Amino acid sequence: MIKLFSSEEEATQQVPLGKSVLLRAADANGEEEKICLSHTKDGFFAVQNTCTHAGEDLHKGFINEQNEIVCPLHSYCFNLKTGHATRGNATSLKTYRLEWKNDEATNQKALFIDL
Ligand code: FES
Repeated sequence: MIKLFSSEEEATQQVPLGKSVLLRAADANGEEEKICLSHTKDGFFAVQNTCTHAGEDLHKGFINEQNEIVCPLHSYCFNLKTGHATRGNATSLKTYRLEWKNDEATNQKALFIDL
């Protein structure tokens, strides 16, 4: 797992509630993954950043009341927990598991991602 943020405070500063950011990380094979990290009222979620409809960057979209990321290009919606398209005919997004774990170096809860 890769540490994204060292504390909840840092995570919230970098990704305020209701916002999404683009993360770039290398997977186990060294391939770059573009990830949309979203901060919702239900917590943080990570999905692939490339929309499965026509390739727009999902981190430029917005989060709706149903905890879905809404693509800015054609407004397809994707459930951030499952990655499933809930509006529009598109395949599901890849989802990434996030986990808060105690960081022994700082003794704070840190946010990790499983690539
Ligand atoms: S590119 Fe995302 S909905 Fe069309």
